[in-house]
Order: sequence, then structure tokens, then C-alpha cells
Amino acid sequence: MAHEINIPDNLKKEEKYSVLRSALSSLISDETDIIAILSNVSSAIQETFNFLWVGFYLVKDKELVLGPFQGPVACFRIKFGQGVCGASWKSNKSIIVPDVNKFPGHIACSSMSKSEIVIPIRKENEVFAILDVDSSNYNDFGEVDKKNLNKIVNLIEDKLI
Ligand code: SME
Repeated sequence: MAHEINIPDNLKKEEKYSVLRSALSSLISDETDIIAILSNVSSAIQETFNFLWVGFYLVKDKELVLGPFQGPVACFRIKFGQGVCGASWKSNKSIIVPDVNKFPGHIACSSMSKSEIVIPIRKENEVFAILDVDSSNYNDFGEVDKKNLNKIVNLIEDKLI
């Protein structure tokens, strides 16, 4: 089977998410290694939408540690409650940041990042990792992204059972 995901560029954002979700569901169906899965999921989201940075921070002891990602180099470790990712871990909620300059404590891994969305990934109701997506445009994320990235995260959560 060819491991390729090609989403037509002329689709609307919500349609792209829908095709991407089905493609990812099938792509990861036979894989059990979570790092391998997160690697291909970050690649597929980044390629589909051309976001600046797409990746995962994994909960390890009392910190988030950088996991598989696509994009510019990023900070290795984030403390509980720190930055957007740490706030999502602490609150166990998705966060949309329309303008990173206005988020108190935002951690600027790249000066090109202007807006951001983060989604917690849960295993047995505890946060296992954070999906972090950064855009080089302001206001790039809304409810469509939140709803659909959560659906993609649900595919990952099904692999953690
Ligand atoms: N901006 C994030 C840090 C991670 S990078 O964006 C990849 C934050 O404030 O948690």
C-alpha cells in the first residue's frame, strides 16, 4: 500500500479535514507504535494545510517534552501551566490563540508564529500529549479547526487504549 496522502487543494478547509481524517484513519489502522503514528499525523496535517508548525509535546513526569513534529526547530521542554501548551495540559482543554502576542506567557519558539491552536490528547482521562499547530498568519484557527483537529486526536486516542 502506498503511504501517501494527497488532499486536493481546491477543497474548502472543512472538506480537507474530512478527507484528511478518513485518510489518516486508514493510514494508521495497522500501526501500533505511537511515535510512528504521531510522526505521520504531524506530516499529514502540515502538508494538507501548509501550517508553519505541527507537532506533539508528550507528558513526561512534570514536563511536556518535544515529540514528532514538522516545521522549524522548537523548544524541547515546557513546564506544567507554562505557555499555550502548558495551559492546555493544566486545563485539559483545547485553546485557540488568534494572536500569540496577546497570550500571557506564550512561548515563542519561532518569531514567524502568529496564531496557534492546541488540543489535549487523553489516555484514561489524563493528558498524554498536546497537539500544537502554529500558523504564520493571525486568526488562522477557529471552531472548524478545533472540531476537526479534535476528531483527528480521537483517532490517536483510540490507539492509546
Ligand atoms: N507556542 C507554544 C510553544 C511551542 S511552539 O509553538 C512549537 C506555547 O506557548 O506553548
